[in-house]
This record gives sequence, structure tokens and C-alpha cells, in this order.
Amino acid sequence: MSEPLILGIETSCDETGVAVLSGNEVLSCVLATQVDEHARFGGILPEIAARAHVEAIRPLVHQALNQAAIHHDELDAVAVTRGPGLVGALAVGYAYGKTMAWTLGKPLIGVDHMEGHLFAPLLDHSDYEPPAVVVLVSGGHSMIVHMRAWGEYHVMGQTLDDAAGEAFDKLARFMGLGYPGGPAIDLYATGGDPDAISFPRPMQGRPYDFSFSGLKTSVVTFLEKAKTANSVPPLEDVCASIQEAIVDSIVSKTFNAVEATGVEIVAGGGGVLANRRLRQKLQEEADRRGVNLLLPSPQLCTDNGAMIAAAGRYHYDRGVFTPWGSDVDPNLKIGQ
Ligand code: KG4
Ligand code: ZN
Repeated sequence: MSEPLILGIETSCDETGVAVLSGNEVLSCVLATQVDEHARFGGILPEIAARAHVEAIRPLVHQALNQAAIHHDELDAVAVTRGPGLVGALAVGYAYGKTMAWTLGKPLIGVDHMEGHLFAPLLDHSDYEPPAVVVLVSGGHSMIVHMRAWGEYHVMGQTLDDAAGEAFDKLARFMGLGYPGGPAIDLYATGGDPDAISFPRPMQGRPYDFSFSGLKTSVVTFLEKAKTANSVPPLEDVCASIQEAIVDSIVSKTFNAVEATGVEIVAGGGGVLANRRLRQKLQEEADRRGVNLLLPSPQLCTDNGAMIAAAGRYHYDRGVFTPWGSDVDPNLKIGQ
């Protein structure tokens, strides 16, 4: 039997992503980023995000089908992000995907955005399978999931305040490094000394939970004091030290979960996993413990349509489709 052809659409935040998958093979994966439109405001404006998705989606779907050399009649299903995310942004992709599926007479599959990130490793690693511990760190979420079986997700820990990406973004904004902050800090940290400043690694007593708001306060206080004393360290050292604190926290919590569950596969998803230092330290720790680390390529860590199609394919295989009367759910929660 030939593999199903699934169109994946992602519009939960500031990237319009569309992809065509044949099974788990990515035939096309295209993206229209709105970063420049939001950068001048230092963060995402929901109204601008929704409008930009409206403009981008139609040409992007055509581009994805063209690049995959697929006619829309050949598609087996349309998978589209249903939540969580910005309600207006989600509504654009969901309405488009639902209309397309309905007019083509193909099933609609509404996908949880975080389940999309959870499926992303499958696009690069055919040996990715449960049981696994999956660390999901993005602009809106930070969580550690014990995937006992496909579709069976136990959230072991999550952030009690800011998400990891949010911490990168807020600190970069405070330091005047622009939006989004993660890639900027990643870049400036190159060549910096990660041990130059010792920022806190909180939540020592809660093995799987994160907290990043204390780090933010600590960095702001440190920099204000250093400015007053006229002794601000080089930006590279500040960035490397901030990055190290966030990375250490993610790596230690992830491997606490690996130890507790005894899994032999560790995977991850979400924009923060594009961070080079985080990838390096997760790899070092995985090697030390002899477990298999399966990360998506950096482009598939950040939001994209392929991960939505991959999660959609899982539901397609089980014949689980979404009713036409369904709507977006900005507060959708994985594992519930
Ligand atoms: O998964 P994603 O694309 O969107 C959400 O679902 O939120 O993640 C975006 C987040 C942003 O906070 C961004 O700053 C962060 O991922 N990010 C990074 C890097 N690239 C993106 N954080 C650290 N280092 C990076 N290289
Ligand atoms: Zn995401």
C-alpha cells in the first residue's frame, strides 16, 4: 500500500508553515515568517499575526503542492493546527484547512501544536518510538513529556512561569538585542565565557519543573548594578552565562526524567532546541549515559507545517478525524 499524502498547515503563532508529507517523507516544507513585521514592536502582535497569515496562506499552500509535484486531488487528508496558540492566528489556518478538506472531500485532522513538536523527530529519525522522554521547549511552552506509547503522553513537568523561549526573548529585549531573542543570544554567546557570571538554576527541589522568571530578575538586577558600578562585562559573556543557566536547567530536568522512567530514547522539539549549546549539552549527557538522543534538525525544531502533517498522519492511520463543526482551541493541552 502506498504511503498517505498529508498536507500540514501551521498558523498558531508568527510563522505560516505548509508542508506535504508522503508517510514520514517530507516532499515539501515552506514557510512565510513574520519576524520582521513583529520585530519593530519587540514582540508578537496578535492582530498583525492574523493578517499576515491571511496574506501568506493561499500562495504558500500552492507553493507546497507545486514543490511536492502533487495535485490537491491526490491528497489523502488535511492536517491543521487547532491549538494552542493565538486565537486569531489559529482561526486563519483552521478555516483555510477545513474549507480545503471539505471541498476536496478529504478528512480534516485538527492537530495539537505541541503534539506536532512531539512528532517532529520522526521526520529525521525513523528509529524514534516510545517509550521516550521528550523535552518540548518553545516560546509558549516548556514541558517534559513521558511518551509511553504513541498518543499516550504523561506531562511529568512544566514551567511554573515563563517558557524557556520567552525567557530568551524577554532577556534579549531587555538587552536591546531585538526579537526573537533566542537566536540573538545563541549568536552573541559564541566565544563568550559561560562561567563568567553565575546566574541561578532554580527549582532544584522539583525534579521535572522549570521556572525562568527568577533568572530574568537576577539578570536585570545584575546588569543594573554593573552599569552603576561602570563594570558591565562583555555582551558575549553575559549572553553565554544566561544561555548556560537556561540550558543547564533544561538538560538536568530532562535527564532527571530519563533516570526516573528508565527510557533509552530522549527526543525533543520546539524552537529553543535550535539552540546550539543546548543541543551540544544534551548530546554530551546522552552519550555519557548511553541513551539515544533524537533531535529534529534545527529548521524542524521551530514551527513548521511538516510536524503538523506528521502528527496528522498518526491520526490518519488510526482513522481519527475531526468533525466539520469543530473550532480552534487556543488553550488546548496535550495529555488531557
Ligand atoms: O517552537 P517555536 O518556533 O514557536 C512556538 O511554538 O513558540 O519557538 C519559538 C521560540 C522563541 O522564543 C525563540 O526565541 C526560540 O524559540 N528560539 C531559540 C533559538 N531559535 C529559536 N532559542 C534559543 N536559541 C535558538 N537558537
Ligand atoms: Zn511551536
